[in-house]
Parts: sequence; C-alpha cells; structure tokens
Amino acid sequence: MFTIETHSTGSLKESYQELNAQLAALLSGERDFICNAAQFSAFVMQTVTDLNWSGFYFARGEELVLGPYVGKVACTRIPFGRGVCGKAAITLQTQRIEDVHAFDGHIACDAASASEVVIPVVVNGKLIAVFDMDSPKISRFSEIDQAGLESFVATFVAATDFSWTI
Ligand code: SME
Repeated sequence: MFTIETHSTGSLKESYQELNAQLAALLSGERDFICNAAQFSAFVMQTVTDLNWSGFYFARGEELVLGPYVGKVACTRIPFGRGVCGKAAITLQTQRIEDVHAFDGHIACDAASASEVVIPVVVNGKLIAVFDMDSPKISRFSEIDQAGLESFVATFVAATDFSWTI
C-alpha cells in the first residue's frame, strides 16, 4: 500500500521534490485522464496544508467545466476570461492571488477562500484544463509553493494519456 509521507524535515522546496516523487509513484501504471485528475486532486488536498478546495476545471470550447475535485460544491461553468480560473485559461499563465477579495472578478465558490493558485494544464500547446487550489489563509502560496505545485502538474501531465481530449 502506498503511503504519503508528509513528515519531511528538509526545506519547503525539498518537501515538494519528495512529494513530487510520491505523486509520480501514485500515478504510475494509470494513464486515464479522469482517474488521474481525481487522484491528483486528492493527493494535493492530502499533502498541501491549509487548503479548502483542490480540483480541475476542464476546457470545453470557450468555457471551463467543473471536473474532479475535493472541497465544497463549486460553480460548474466559468467562461474564459472570468475569475481567476478564466484568467489562467486565456493567459496560459499561473495565477497566484494573495488576496482573492482584492482580485477584480473573483468568483467566490466557497466564502472561506482567501487566497488562490490556478495553474493552466497545457498539452502540446493546447489548454486542456486548469488546476485550482483555494486556501482560507491570506497569502498562503509563496513562489516556492507555486513552483512546487507547477511541478506536480507537470508530473500529472507526463503520467496521463490526453489523446482522446486533443
Ligand atoms: N475562485 C475561482 C472559481 C472556482 S472556485 O474557487 C472552486 C475563480 O475566481 O475563478
């Protein structure tokens, strides 16, 4: 049985490196997009502290549609360009928001959310999804967190078969 070790004594960067190796092991042997997206969401919720939402929105035409996630029920469709997720979708850049209440157009799915990171999932130059994490803490996510979480998404992309989505 695979166990997630969260008791690292090293730096935050090293913790992300260790967790990323565990993530690669967790996803190895399974290539299904939905399955890996569900496991990935739960892995992040289980290993990254102070999160209240962790999950995917899939790109469908010009909007994002709710995918596998862990957290409270959320809005189902977000047009490209709207909210933090929609901005990540049109810019193809990670959005790291220190205070969501100061973000013009933020979509509040869970009133407890205070900071947020949204990472676009791009495969062969095409936007497949965005991965969204919310925290009830202001400024929860540092640049080191962003880099670590982006490395998790890269591991998810490498482990997964997207051929039927592209
Ligand atoms: N806050 C997001 C909406 C998704 S929920 O956080 C799950 C946004 O502004 O796009």
